[in-house]
Amino acid sequence: MKVAIILGTRPEIIKMSPIIRECDKQGIDFYILHTGQHYSYDMDRIFFEQLKLPEAKYNLDVGSGKHGEQTAKMLAGIEEILLKDTPDVVLVQGDTNTVLAGALAASKLQIKVGHVEAGLRSFDRTMPEETNRVIADHISDYLFAPTENSKQYLLNEGIPEEKIFVTGNTVVDAAYQNLEIAKQTGNVLETLGLKEKEYFAATAHRAENVDSKERLGGILSGFSQIYEEFGLSIIFPAHPRTVKMIREFGFEIPEGTKLIEPLGYLEFLQLEGGARLILTDSGGVQEESCILKVPCVTLRDNTERPETVDVGANLIAGTGEKIIECARKMLESDLNWENPYGNGDAAELTTKNINLMRKSNTMEL
Ligand code: UD1
Ligand code: UDP
Repeated sequence: MKVAIILGTRPEIIKMSPIIRECDKQGIDFYILHTGQHYSYDMDRIFFEQLKLPEAKYNLDVGSGKHGEQTAKMLAGIEEILLKDTPDVVLVQGDTNTVLAGALAASKLQIKVGHVEAGLRSFDRTMPEETNRVIADHISDYLFAPTENSKQYLLNEGIPEEKIFVTGNTVVDAAYQNLEIAKQTGNVLETLGLKEKEYFAATAHRAENVDSKERLGGILSGFSQIYEEFGLSIIFPAHPRTVKMIREFGFEIPEGTKLIEPLGYLEFLQLEGGARLILTDSGGVQEESCILKVPCVTLRDNTERPETVDVGANLIAGTGEKIIECARKMLESDLNWENPYGNGDAAELTTKNINLMRKSNTMEL
């Protein structure tokens, strides 16, 4: 069996890393196809280095662009590669334009598609990610749902049960595999002059937030109120998209907020783990805060990770006045919630199920 692992952005590299390691361990023939959706050193290369991942065999270097343009370039590029280096299975992870292009290119060539992190739904079609994940799910042959809840969403949409496997989320595998390595490699708290549980950590990059002057302004003023009330600084490693928009809108960084460059994964895991509270609009960061037992306030109007809210690890604040209210509530919460995303064996279950499915398909033939 030959597997093509298609990825292109920061979270895909991180969440695919346990699957790449598992393929290596099991001697599965695989290659990595990088679309180049992310390309800056601290959004791309650093993760290959820190996670000791093999080089991508192909990199399409598509870079940034409008949705149609970016996705179309990927689609054409991926098709070319799949035609000349044809795998039995293509794996995509998550909900980015890379996922849509990868799943679509493979599906049109009748190559089996496995969607890792299938079945997430925000039910908000204004998010580009919702369109990507819905389409990817419906054209996939193997759907690796992180929870029973995500499996149920897929069943509700008529996807046959035999295609769905509940595996947990590889975000847990990645965190567990790298926490100890992170501690051994350095101490980001010391580097940034921070004390454990005496700061907040924040990220924001969702298009619907940072491309809107009102919503990005709302987030920054939420940070300002938080600093005023709790006197703890907010460490904000900002995505390049966010930095660009802060400049474009001419926003000042409020007192108490420390805007820094994006961190490597090993450093970011430490920053998250040491924080008193996390404020974010990131999908992966909502999950990681839940895993690391750090309360989270989500800077969005909805989430496709409702499990984090259900277990009491997360509150949905939006980008306005509710930020401070939710921060107050989460700071008082007990930290004894269960991690709903599995034990860290999602990658193993994923590859095992692909092998089983491949075997049963071959027998049918
Ligand atoms: C993309 C995904 C989003 C995911 C995020 C992870 C889509 C539609 N969006 O959003 O779901 O949560 O990645 O971080 O697929 N930029 C750089 N360097 C880079 C990459 C981007 O400077 O390496 C800047 C460019 O100005 C670019 C902007 O960030 O225009 C947005 O990049 P893009 O990949 O289009 O979307 P993300 O916001 O990163
Ligand atoms: N992350 C990182 N450095 C940072 C911010 C985030 O390594 O400065 C990691 C984080 O640990 C998580 C992933 O990036 O695993 C989340 O990616 P992002 O927020 O860009 O995308 P999303 O999860 O929302 O798709």
